[in-house]
Amino acid sequence: MAVSSRALSVVYILSSLFALSTCQNCSNFTFSKNRVFNSCIDLPYLDAHLHWNYISSTGRIELAYRASQTPTGWIAWAINLTGYGMPGSQALVAFQNSNGSLIAYPTQIRSYSPSLRPHALSFPVPYIAAEYANNEMIIFAVIGPLANDTTVNHLWQTGSSVSNDIPQIHQTTGPHVQSMGTLDFLSGKGLKLGENV
Ligand SMILES: *[C@@H]1O[C@H](CO)[C@@H](O)[C@H](O)[C@H]1NC(C)=O
Ligand SMILES: *[C@@H]1O[C@H](CO)[C@@H](O)[C@H](O)[C@H]1NC(C)=O
Ligand SMILES: *[C@@H]1O[C@H](CO)[C@@H](O)[C@H](O)[C@H]1NC(C)=O
Ligand SMILES: *[C@@H]1O[C@H](CO)[C@@H](O)[C@H](O)[C@H]1NC(C)=O
Ligand SMILES: *[C@@H]1O[C@H](CO)[C@@H](O)[C@H](O)[C@H]1NC(C)=O
Repeated sequence: MAVSSRALSVVYILSSLFALSTCQNCSNFTFSKNRVFNSCIDLPYLDAHLHWNYISSTGRIELAYRASQTPTGWIAWAINLTGYGMPGSQALVAFQNSNGSLIAYPTQIRSYSPSLRPHALSFPVPYIAAEYANNEMIIFAVIGPLANDTTVNHLWQTGSSVSNDIPQIHQTTGPHVQSMGTLDFLSGKGLKLGENV
């Protein structure tokens, strides 16, 4: 019994830490244009945050993914409905185009050196836009409906350079390979975190 109560208190401490780190700051964030998101999570790596509304009647998700970034870097957020890891994931990417406009589009990650050219995803993306403010890049999107499940594996990334309007490879160490987890859009809970291999 001692073992299990200790295990319980570890779970309790971990979940309290998780609650602190996931709710403390993102819930206070104010978006432009009166955009409001009811759920959010402070992601544990890359100074990134995900905000969303899950619309149960349509299965669509209105979301904002924001991360610290310089004006010339790029950010991306991706989900994989069936597996883990980067190849096979369905991504949203944003960066400053060479004409000076901040652009965002969906792209499929097909390998560890993906083209990152615009490409339709395995689910609808009826809206996508990007914004740069206060040293953060933000992707706004509406996605879905997804498959039957509201739980997805997701990964997120930032990179420092864009060349010929194509985001260049991100760092492959530290937080850049840990930035992955499982997320339930319905309950708003971030679940387990794994290695982004
Ligand atoms: C919350 O915000 C404060 C001030 O901006 C910052 O110092 C702190 O690290 C943040 N905490 C988390 C968990 O992100
Ligand atoms: C930030 O959010 C927390 C939790 O939602 C709330 O208790 C707190 O009052 C908010 N702080 C500010 C400055 O809005
Ligand atoms: C998800 O990831 C798996 C394993 O990497 C891959 O085989 C699959 O094509 C991906 N599917 C989707 C829909 O993202
Ligand atoms: C810049 O290029 C992007 C991508 O081709 C395009 O969507 C956008 O409208 C352009 N912006 C301007 C100001 O020309
Ligand atoms: C959704 O669930 C139904 C019934 O369980 C199943 O037949 C179908 O393949 C599922 N669709 C997807 C996209 O997973």
